[in-house]
Amino acid sequence: MIIAIDGPAASGKGTLSRRLARHFGLRHLDTGLTYRAVAAALLANGLPLGDEAIAVEIAHNLDLAQMDKSVLASHEIGEAASRIAVLGGLRKELVDLQRRFAEKPPGAVLDGRDIGTVVCPDATVKLFVTASAQARARRRTDEMIAKGQEANYVSVLEDLKRRDERDSQRTVAPMKQAEDAVLLDTTEMDIETAFQAAVDIVSRA
Ligand code: C5P
Repeated sequence: MIIAIDGPAASGKGTLSRRLARHFGLRHLDTGLTYRAVAAALLANGLPLGDEAIAVEIAHNLDLAQMDKSVLASHEIGEAASRIAVLGGLRKELVDLQRRFAEKPPGAVLDGRDIGTVVCPDATVKLFVTASAQARARRRTDEMIAKGQEANYVSVLEDLKRRDERDSQRTVAPMKQAEDAVLLDTTEMDIETAFQAAVDIVSRA
């Protein structure tokens, strides 16, 4: 069983994916972390983000077990990840890695931007989780404040819109809802309601 979850930044797809994996006894991969891990390695070594050969080599040696979400969560790494995500050769390397993860029994929940369209086109069930840019910016701002970080709603909103634009307009594997994905718009939902809606969609499938 493979559950494919796609959607824009701060849509709540990460939390939903983790909870769905626990609920259905599946493994979980946040594929955004794979792009972030490569970006972080390039940044840490002062290497250019456009050097595809080096990015591919880093991706080839990536160990999923070593990816630390708390280290990779920064805004700077997210931006760099979205910049290198346009590199076709890098995507191919990471998609291979993600597919190998998905195919191991008993199955998995994968979340990202191109899971339903490219990584797992034959997934058992596909969800496209979204929310208005304003709702996502509000949630992201609240999250940052709760962590004791400084956050400005207007600049968070601008960042999200820029990232959505880059992720949905790129030529290779742009973010988009797969034709057979169920749309889950969480703008008016709290996390519990969204989780119940997602469980219902998966159970029906
Ligand atoms: O989801 P997250 O913010 O961690 O993803 C960081 C960036 O990685 C995204 O903005 C996107 O450009 C890229 N990404 C992607 N395909 C995926 C997952 C993430 O292109 N499946």
